[in-house]
Amino acid sequence: MTPELVEFKQLGDDRGNLIAVESGRSVPFTIERAYYIYNTADGVERGFHAHKALTQVAVAVAGSCDMILDDGNAEVSVPMDSPGKGVLIAPGVWHYMKSFSPDCVLLVFADAHYDESDYIRDYGEFKQWLKER
Ligand code: TYD
Repeated sequence: MTPELVEFKQLGDDRGNLIAVESGRSVPFTIERAYYIYNTADGVERGFHAHKALTQVAVAVAGSCDMILDDGNAEVSVPMDSPGKGVLIAPGVWHYMKSFSPDCVLLVFADAHYDESDYIRDYGEFKQWLKER
C-alpha cells in the first residue's frame, strides 16, 4: 500500500522552528482529540489495531520511530523522523509502531473522541471485517 503523507509547513527562522497545525487545514479533518506517546521503553512495539471509522494523523515531534501500515494486502513501513512529516492513518488500516528512539514524542491527531468500540484489536478479526465491509 502507498502511505499518505501530510506535510507540515516549517515556519522556522534564525531563532528556531515553528509548525502550526490547524484543524481541517493542515490535517484533512476536524481535530476532536490529540494524544502523544512518549518515554517508550526500549524495544517496545505498540498499536496493533485498526479502527473502523477513526481517521488520524501521526507526527514525531521529537525523536523518531517507524509506523507500519497494513491495508490487509500489503504492509509499508514509514519512518517518522521529522516534525514536518505526518502520516495519515485511515480507517480500516492495521497499524503498529516500533523502533522508538528514547526521545521520541509521537503526536497523534484524531477526528473523534476515544471510543474503544471503534477498535479492532485482533488481526484475524481485522481480515474478516475487511471481507464483510
Ligand atoms: P492503546 O490504544 O491500547 O495504545 P496502543 O497505541 O498501544 O494501541 O491505549 C492505551 C490505553 O490508553 C488504553 O487503556 C486506552 C487508553 N486511551 C485513552 O483512554 N484515550 C485515548 O485517546 C487513547 C489513544 C488511549
